[in-house]
Amino acid sequence: MTAREKWGTRIGLVLAMAGNAVGLGNFLRFPVQAAQNGGGAFMIPYFVALLLLGIPLMWVEWAMGRYGGKYGHGSIPGMFDEMWKNRMAKYLGAVGLMITAVILIYYTYIESWTLGFSFFSLTKSYFGDNTFETMRGFLASYQGVGEGHFDSVLPAYVFMCLTLIANLFVLYKGISRGIERLALIAMPALVIFAIILLIRVVTLGAPDPVAHPDWNVSSGFAFLWNPDFTKLSQAGIWLAAAGQTFFTLSVGLGCIQAYSSYVGDRDDIALGGLTTASTNEAVEVVFGGSIAIPVAVAFFGIMATQEIAQRGAFDLGFVSLPIIFTKIPLGQFFGFIWFLLLFFAGITSSVALATPVMAFLQDEFGLSRAKATALVGSVVFLALHLVVFFLGHGFLDEMDYWAGTFGLAAFALVEVIIFAWIFGMNKGWEEITRGARIKIPKIFYFVIKYVTPLYLLFIIGNWLVRDAVAVLLMDSVAKADLPYRWGARLLMLALLAAFILGVWHVWRKRDPRKREKGIA
Ligand code: ALA
Repeated sequence: MTAREKWGTRIGLVLAMAGNAVGLGNFLRFPVQAAQNGGGAFMIPYFVALLLLGIPLMWVEWAMGRYGGKYGHGSIPGMFDEMWKNRMAKYLGAVGLMITAVILIYYTYIESWTLGFSFFSLTKSYFGDNTFETMRGFLASYQGVGEGHFDSVLPAYVFMCLTLIANLFVLYKGISRGIERLALIAMPALVIFAIILLIRVVTLGAPDPVAHPDWNVSSGFAFLWNPDFTKLSQAGIWLAAAGQTFFTLSVGLGCIQAYSSYVGDRDDIALGGLTTASTNEAVEVVFGGSIAIPVAVAFFGIMATQEIAQRGAFDLGFVSLPIIFTKIPLGQFFGFIWFLLLFFAGITSSVALATPVMAFLQDEFGLSRAKATALVGSVVFLALHLVVFFLGHGFLDEMDYWAGTFGLAAFALVEVIIFAWIFGMNKGWEEITRGARIKIPKIFYFVIKYVTPLYLLFIIGNWLVRDAVAVLLMDSVAKADLPYRWGARLLMLALLAAFILGVWHVWRKRDPRKREKGIA
């Protein structure tokens, strides 16, 4: 087997890891979550989750990845198998692979909308005398779930294919020539785009000072950041903050570990992990919090923005902002920049989501990068058809709930227990601090060992008590959508079965305990 790849440069690794974390979650999900959950008050549980879950898990995942990489594993089954000498460990790892693969599928589709909409900004396709209704119609017809501008889902299908090809091209090029080069271009570009948009937003003032003097950018910032402390006593806001922390940092997924498996055994991970988390947070709070919501308040007022935030991330990013672009000078250009920014943020995360599966095929099956790319590409391409054609029936929502929301927290609990309690916190601490360029306060030893697992148990326990039965039985889902929701669940189970089978196939020949017994 050929030697595993390595990152080319330290700056390349740092930017790739930042690109791994910075994604659609920073610009679309965060502002809506903050607005829905108490504005400024949301930042309290959010920072608590960052300190007690996000940063500790970031270090755990970097450490786990570098440790696995030393033994030639870039995906969770192999890492768990090295850390826990139990035959079940690698099968638990298969669950981690499934979660990443599921998110990769629907994430790629959403990412392709951003590519489509950056093109539509240039061609002014959504320009005209738009209302919320017509703009929602534009998006719905693009997605093939409603009447409007487009006759069929074909344009969405074409942009989906283009996005997938772009991702596969980067994956095919590999770690340093593909992912690292992408990050070196996309991350600085993303920051420049965000600064341009930020300047545009803060210089906007009040677009209609006569009719609506209080509709201005300052009240937009006030709406987002004024704390509503009454919300702090609700468990829901704590869960939402933890969920956002996982999603935005890409922890609980396996893709931080996959990138870290290409780091040298004595290279720093302590500063690397902290840099990844802080870059992500800076982009999220400064840029993610300053673009979409303030501009929506300036143009539509607080009431309408509240309604937009309740309708979710897509309504904000793909409906409200395009309406605004049609109203401002050079709107075509700003629309293009906004959606291209989202596309860059998206692609640097989607290649990271694909990396654990690529590594699984390359490291464990010995597949060449080209073959692994072809296999990942074919499976994602086929699965994407289900997402594209059954979108309106909640196919994507079901995947997002189980993989993107519940899966991350559940999997994070498994990995922190394996790391801190089975592998052992003393060994774990040595892994995290070996080669460190910073001194991590010893208190994090105890946070990782006790606080993070307890916090995760609290979150999952709360979910079990509040939601489990209703969600499992799909109580609030329309009857007509049930078959599609079940379809999404079956797809996830099929992927899980495939990974379990893959793990079984690979380790059957390897497992020393079995060899001793003469089974293989
Ligand atoms: N961390 C990635 C995001 O925020 C998945 O979109």
